[in-house]
Amino acid sequence: MHPMLNIAINAARAAGNIIIRQINHVQDLAVNEKSRNDFVSEVDRQAEAVIIDTIHRYYPGHGILAEESGRSGNRSNEYVWIIDPLDGTTNYLHGFPQYAVSIALQHKGVLQQGVIYDPLRDELFTAGHGHGAYLNDRRIRVSKQKHLHGALLGTGFPFREGARTDQYLETLKVFFAVTAGIRRAGAAALDLAYVACGRLDGFWESGLKTWDMAAGVLLIEEAGGLVSDFSGGDSFLTKGAIVAATPDVHKEMLTSFSTLKLE
Ligand code: IPD
Ligand code: CA
Ligand code: CA
Repeated sequence: MHPMLNIAINAARAAGNIIIRQINHVQDLAVNEKSRNDFVSEVDRQAEAVIIDTIHRYYPGHGILAEESGRSGNRSNEYVWIIDPLDGTTNYLHGFPQYAVSIALQHKGVLQQGVIYDPLRDELFTAGHGHGAYLNDRRIRVSKQKHLHGALLGTGFPFREGARTDQYLETLKVFFAVTAGIRRAGAAALDLAYVACGRLDGFWESGLKTWDMAAGVLLIEEAGGLVSDFSGGDSFLTKGAIVAATPDVHKEMLTSFSTLKLE
């Protein structure tokens, strides 16, 4: 295994331990609302700190882009670690069992390593550029689903962007009518990991941040899936609108987006 992937796994497991240790004390946690419906707790901050400590112990010169502390480390370094210490904070604070740690490593702008760790189920999703995607050491692939008809899709609601609600509901209506079902589980990183291992056939959401997506994108690409923005372009990591699916389902989802004229 690549040594940097190994460090990412150690960091994700250490963060997972912090998340699990506090699980029965969520009512007592100090929680702040960063913006409307966007919460952060001490657990997010502690988990992020342990991840950054672990990385910097081995790679002190590397850059960091982390949800709670932003950019740190050497900004001109070719390596940047992209960290979401707890994806699904709202779920966690409500005791809803769907959340994960997400860590990715970019080198010169190319995703190289990715880890998504679900500490409740002890499910470790990993990917290395050109080396495939794995769930607990077992190779994973996207599903063989060929059409939206019969597909199970994941999504996220645009809960921070009131202005997009109507546009989102139009999309939902289209996919709702044709698929076998749609799930909104509340942790985008895990949704992407589920596409990579075939539990979902596709996923779409807008308004996401780089740290919600980076590791999941590499997992899906290494598992044989396709990832793009709503027009088929590659602006997703910066603009936050993402559609990810099996190759055939991805094509049909893009056709639906173009009919709806969404970007
Ligand atoms: C959120 C989750 C959620 C998605 C939001 C994200 P957080 O991440 O991934 O599913 O709909 O857009 O911000 O804030 O819990 O790390
Ligand atoms: Ca997140
Ligand atoms: Ca988070």
